Amino acid sequence: MSFLELRDITKTYGTLNAVSDVTLSVEKGEFVSLLGPSGCGKTTTLQMIAGFVDVTSGSIHLDGRDITRAKANTRGLGIVFQTYALFPHMTVFDNVSFGLEMQRVPKSERRARVEEALELVHLAPYAGRYPRELSGGQRQRVALARAIVIRPPVLLLDEPLSNLDAKLREAMQFELRDIQRKVGTTTVMVTHDQAEAFSISDRVVVMEAGRITQIDQPYRIYEHPQTEFISRFVGKTNLLPGTVKAVSGAYASVSLAGVPVEIDSQSGADMGGKGGALASGETVTLCIRPEKLRLTGAGQGRLPGRVSERYFLGSQWLYHVDGPLGTLMAVTPNDGSAPLDLDAPVGVDWSPSVVRVHRGAMAEAPDPALEAH
Ligand SMILES: Nc1ncnc2c1ncn2[C@@H]1O[C@H](COP(=O)(O)OP(=O)(O)O)[C@@H](O)[C@H]1O
Ligand SMILES: [Mg+2]
Repeated sequence: MSFLELRDITKTYGTLNAVSDVTLSVEKGEFVSLLGPSGCGKTTTLQMIAGFVDVTSGSIHLDGRDITRAKANTRGLGIVFQTYALFPHMTVFDNVSFGLEMQRVPKSERRARVEEALELVHLAPYAGRYPRELSGGQRQRVALARAIVIRPPVLLLDEPLSNLDAKLREAMQFELRDIQRKVGTTTVMVTHDQAEAFSISDRVVVMEAGRITQIDQPYRIYEHPQTEFISRFVGKTNLLPGTVKAVSGAYASVSLAGVPVEIDSQSGADMGGKGGALASGETVTLCIRPEKLRLTGAGQGRLPGRVSERYFLGSQWLYHVDGPLGTLMAVTPNDGSAPLDLDAPVGVDWSPSVVRVHRGAMAEAPDPALEAH
């Protein structure tokens, strides 16, 4: 049996299904992230685990115990919510010590444990300061120390890094993972930021409109998204509508606006969970990540193209290449040499193994929810 189990949990508010039939098993010591756009039910799910929101149906089990109806303060979980403010009139030390006092831990042990927790988040020298004397990142780390000092069986983090600026956020991602590894606490984190979810988690749970649509290791989610929504939501992607023209053995030929493209005929089984090989005449949407496209010299590769835009991303260049399939995005590593010129004629190439196939037609337009955080 898993350490933390959500069995078919549902939360309804009036007619709204905020969370529908969520089933998830988290192993002891695992770091799992709930990833999805704003409003998809991540916080509600976490709050049900915490005990701040009652489940409408379903059950929650912790270490073999049914905690579905247990009061929040008896669950003993460590919680860092975005809006979980520090006590402004207390020092860093006292903020961290507070939970231990509530648990009536003796004073001498309290001191040792608070010092240990502050050491872990690199704030030992700041024990005597007040929250207003700290930077955003330091405050966030105090909140983390306060949650882990009680040695909770499960740590719940809701967008713990979202108030930090980009650079600090990235540094804190690695720090958070490092701390979690040292302490070994089973952790469930909520985030709408795919980079954050990918860099820290053992497994990522993707949610759409209250439901889980995929649970997988981060690279599997990126390389084998189960829905078109996921392929758009996690990273950039080129989505190309097509029709299967012929299937022969391991390969299928798909026509994209009259351009034939060869793909793995079994790849339909991988996508959308609908199973089975592709059939002739079937409508499909091909999905190719920008970094999987290679830009070659003009006249080479699978398709001709012309550079229409280019963006410098620091470690990479992002190109828009116009050609017979419309505009494709291609990302190439910045190897230090000069980029391609605007209007330069190029060839576009890829290997068949990088093409993912979604069965069915493409959604009309990108989901506006993807834009909103
Ligand atoms: N207390 C509440 N009353 C009514 N609706 C709520 C309440 N809490 C959340 N919701 C709704 O439930 C849905 C999921 O919200 P939430 O779990 O906060 O999403 P997320 O954390 O993924 O952004 C949203 O449509 C939200 O408006
Ligand atoms: Mg939320």
